[in-house]
Amino acid sequence: MAQFWKPGTEKPEARVVDDEEGGVLFLPGSNSLSSSSSSSGYGYVSIEKQRQRLPVYKYRNAILYLVETHATTIIVGETGSGKTTQIPQYLIEAGWAAGGRLIACTQPRRLAVQAVASRVSQEMGVQLGEQVGYTIRFEDVTKQDVTALKFLTDGVLLREMMADPLLTKYSVIMVDEAHERSISTDILLGLLKKIQRRRPELRLIIASATIEAKSMADFFRPRKKRREPKNEEIGLKVEPAILSVEGRGFNVQINFAEEPVHDYVQAAVSTVLSIHERESTGDILVFLTGQDDIDAAVHLLNEDMQTNGKHSSGLVILPLYSGLPRAEQELVFSPTLRGKRKVVISTNIAETSLTLEGIVYVVDTGFSKQRFYNPISDIENLVVAPISRASARQRAGRAGRVRPGKCYRLYTEEYFLNHMSNEGTPEIQRSNLVSCVIQLKALGIDNILGFDWPASPSPEAMIRALEVLYSLGILDDDAKLTSPTGFQVAEIPLDPMISKMIIASSQLGCSEEIITIAAVLSVQSIWISGRGIQKDSDEAKLRFAAAEGDHVTFLNVYKGFHQSGKSSQWCHKNYVNYHAMKKVLEVREQLKRIAQRIGLVLKSCESDMQMVKKAVTAGFFANACRLEAYSHNGMYKTLRGSEEVYVHPSSVLFRVNPKWVIYNSLVSTDRQYMRNVMTIDPSWLLEAAPHFYKLQQPNLLH
Ligand code: CDP
Ligand code: MG
Repeated sequence: MAQFWKPGTEKPEARVVDDEEGGVLFLPGSNSLSSSSSSSGYGYVSIEKQRQRLPVYKYRNAILYLVETHATTIIVGETGSGKTTQIPQYLIEAGWAAGGRLIACTQPRRLAVQAVASRVSQEMGVQLGEQVGYTIRFEDVTKQDVTALKFLTDGVLLREMMADPLLTKYSVIMVDEAHERSISTDILLGLLKKIQRRRPELRLIIASATIEAKSMADFFRPRKKRREPKNEEIGLKVEPAILSVEGRGFNVQINFAEEPVHDYVQAAVSTVLSIHERESTGDILVFLTGQDDIDAAVHLLNEDMQTNGKHSSGLVILPLYSGLPRAEQELVFSPTLRGKRKVVISTNIAETSLTLEGIVYVVDTGFSKQRFYNPISDIENLVVAPISRASARQRAGRAGRVRPGKCYRLYTEEYFLNHMSNEGTPEIQRSNLVSCVIQLKALGIDNILGFDWPASPSPEAMIRALEVLYSLGILDDDAKLTSPTGFQVAEIPLDPMISKMIIASSQLGCSEEIITIAAVLSVQSIWISGRGIQKDSDEAKLRFAAAEGDHVTFLNVYKGFHQSGKSSQWCHKNYVNYHAMKKVLEVREQLKRIAQRIGLVLKSCESDMQMVKKAVTAGFFANACRLEAYSHNGMYKTLRGSEEVYVHPSSVLFRVNPKWVIYNSLVSTDRQYMRNVMTIDPSWLLEAAPHFYKLQQPNLLH
């Protein structure tokens, strides 16, 4: 491994700054605040002191002054400088939550919402869910008239606009992680700009880890001809203020792979072991792409510990990805025991959304999972794709938080310099726009192409979205939401195809079953999987497998779980993920409440699976496929765009090869795989969406 690395020739990417205090802070009697590796001698520091040591503290008054005097304040500061945890507290201290008003802080990721809310409530010494709360989809941990500061996903804030279009209960809205340019962040920014014209007293803070503040400022600067003097009337500057928080990053030495890496999971594992063997104390952060490869890496490291303990003894291996049970998430933030070295194996979430203390070594595989959408085939995929140079720099920076660190990039310098893109593309330009269109329509914004976007989506993607929504009966000929279907779909916080399936189930008399399916589809997976247990878990799955496919199989699992008295032992025995099933129960209850609110009939079809399948088809007809080439795992083609697809190995229909299927989503690795697959009768397609299939492709079903 030693000769594998080549130091980078670029100048260091994080600055060297003298650090008077240095080192890592300890807190008395707390194991979740401020973690540390084995270093010691810095003594105990109160929360207050610790807060004052964050780079953002020096700017406290400046920030409060700018927020007081400007409608929009843009704050740029490197990860870990205290933007997310401190600025909302400063706002509370300055009285922005007085008189029953609320402060909102949005995050693109659910896991980050929970983590920062929990951290801030600890810093403030209050119970989470009281003064400091959070809301993510299907989980509201706030208390009316008590919560003053609310962390939430940008998607949830968008949903709140449906009930309260001007977001009147908020005095300040901080849009955090704006550099991520998630699709919801972009929609939110466009809408907040509109709200500002109607609510001049509303203050916006846009916080970001990278310097694209200028384009953000251009976006929020009122155009001359449309200049709205209202803000000035109340003494507010309309020109956005920009403040840059000087961080205290340490030098990070960059090492590149000498040769291209073929198996990045294996390479990441070897690099971790080699760091552990050769380098001094300090925790390691590894960037992988998702649960699958993270689990694989954790497994390989654990295996090494068991068989060959000398390389890996003293390592504490912790995965970090969304969907991880709460207790496991917390471990990532808890201090490392003396003599141990923590290895956090994470998705992109640790790039800027979460700050982990004590990291000195970063292993960057150069990939992340990204959404890609092709409007021609109408296929949206989560793809493992190369990151941008901006992301690579962010990742490296994670190593220089507590002292000088090292970053190991599992790609060559030539690749970094000549083949990586400089910056990522905003998600809105690589996404299916169906949900986005419904949300804007529900908010009364009809001219969607003319909407003031921070970055415009492509007209092709927009047209595709309108077409799909029309065929789902959600939009009418004038591209307005239909009543009641369109408005009902907009009320359900799920993918419109799932929402449509729920609405259809009300008419078909199988809503109890379909709501269970919708709840299962909203969790990542209800199965326990992983290297080593695959055979046993596949066998367990067969006990529930239904000839109709995954959807009916989910109903069987749910039934068994219910009959077991919701027992965790039952789950364990059947390789079913207990935490996921508990989440399914929760989501199911919430969906039932929503269904009742919008006037759907809750009814069970008992064992008539035909109705269930028809309801699924009513939502997902656009994802129909026909078997084209029979083989071990046969090749299918989508009816829509004639794309080659295969049944995913996790499906109960893997290697079963039914002629006609529909799927819920695609994942793409070496091939495009269909996840959650169900057999259908092709005549249902014409029933569910006559215009969609008959008119477009008259001979398709023959
Ligand atoms: O938002 P930004 O990246 O600027 O920083 P932050 O998330 O507010 O983090 C500020 C500090 O809080 C970091 O230096 C971490 O030490 C600490 N922190 C923590 O220890 N545990 C958390 N769950 C969150 C933050
Ligand atoms: Mg932050």
